[in-house]
Amino acid sequence: MAPRTWDFPEGFLWGTATASYQVEGDNANCDWWEWESQPGRIRGGDRSGKACDWWGGRWAEDLDRAAQAGQNAHRLSVEWSRIEPEPDRWDESALAFYREILLGARARGLTPFVTLHHFTNPLWLAARGGWLSADVVPRFERFTTKVVSALGDLADWWITINEPNVLAYSGYAGGVFPPGNRSLPHALQAMVHLMQAHAAAYHAIRARVPGARIGLAHHYRGMRPARAGCPLDHLVAWARSSTFNEACARAAQDGILRLPGRRVSIPQAVGTQDYFGLNYYTTEVARLDLRAWNELMARSAYPAGAVLSPNGFLANVPIGLTHALRWAGRFRVPILITENGTEDAADEFRRRYLVEHLLHLWDAIGAGAPVLGYLHWTLVDNFEWAEGWNLRFGLWGLDPHTQARTRRGSADLYEQICRANGLSEETVKQHSPEWLATADARTGSGGAAP
Ligand code: GAL
Repeated sequence: MAPRTWDFPEGFLWGTATASYQVEGDNANCDWWEWESQPGRIRGGDRSGKACDWWGGRWAEDLDRAAQAGQNAHRLSVEWSRIEPEPDRWDESALAFYREILLGARARGLTPFVTLHHFTNPLWLAARGGWLSADVVPRFERFTTKVVSALGDLADWWITINEPNVLAYSGYAGGVFPPGNRSLPHALQAMVHLMQAHAAAYHAIRARVPGARIGLAHHYRGMRPARAGCPLDHLVAWARSSTFNEACARAAQDGILRLPGRRVSIPQAVGTQDYFGLNYYTTEVARLDLRAWNELMARSAYPAGAVLSPNGFLANVPIGLTHALRWAGRFRVPILITENGTEDAADEFRRRYLVEHLLHLWDAIGAGAPVLGYLHWTLVDNFEWAEGWNLRFGLWGLDPHTQARTRRGSADLYEQICRANGLSEETVKQHSPEWLATADARTGSGGAAP
């Protein structure tokens, strides 16, 4: 029998995703830099320092790596604190730097995706209360206008805000991102402002780049009840998923932000999503815990028996991607996987994680999911927020002291997949033999569980 292949649609976008703070280095004018300097905030007291030294020019060699490895797209972000170092003072040299990167991406055949906000705020905005400050929405709108006026001719794909749900929860309820608040009402208020800011940015981009395709990068975390027979676990899993996974996405569709005990009307947000940006990493289970007030009364854990990543940061649950895609399909716009990946310094786990997620993606496409591309997190190890340098997500490893890059086996595997626009039988046999064993039953099955 001829070998089988798991092909992706023609013109599929294959790439990696990065974020300015995590790769640039020396981002001293933003809230994360200040946060890092506080004892106990970052695991092991790590500092981002030079990060991957993109600000020093190493973006060029890393984009070379991406292009030479068969990728045709790259997602990056711009740093608000560099572009507007003080309120209403614009640094044209920072914009020129981003022009150079975008031109560099295009020259290498990488379709750029530009994220306007990826977790970091300028210090001056943080001092005014960050996403709780009264004027954050018009401020973000002005920033967006400035950025698209300078860069709008170089990118068609725009992401207004990365993971508003994670930013709101981690910064304002969980206390693990700046400003370190531990208040659910603050997190919900931040979410209101984030979605108002998204809507304002959408219209600002649309006005200046008529052909732009604009969306958000939504973090979807699968949430299942811990005890199948316990109605209260069902209830808290549903409540958490409604707020964490669904609220922002639905608001960008119908203009209503549904929060616990509160519906906020944001009419300007209606239809502000030309495509659905989906970040999927893992799935968890939730059980009722009345003490977990900030977590919407749910205590979460990874499913019993799930295979965890080397640092235990996530569980490998690829069927969760199928569920996420089915859910995202309800928004009736094309879908882009804007992030998916795992930490794995030794590169022993990542290939299986990657292949299994791509097979589920392939299966969902076969069942009709309108997915246009896949952006792996990430190209080169970078500064992983509160986890510092502890978690290594790169296809290439990085020694942050010497800036030396080391190509991991996963980069070879991903290159084969990008170049073939699909997975070969050999790849599937090697990394997901269970899939091969049941392959015949699954052609476009829409994600039946293995
Ligand atoms: C996402 C985030 C990325 C990256 C990734 C890996 O939530 O957008 O910046 O850190 O997680 O944990």
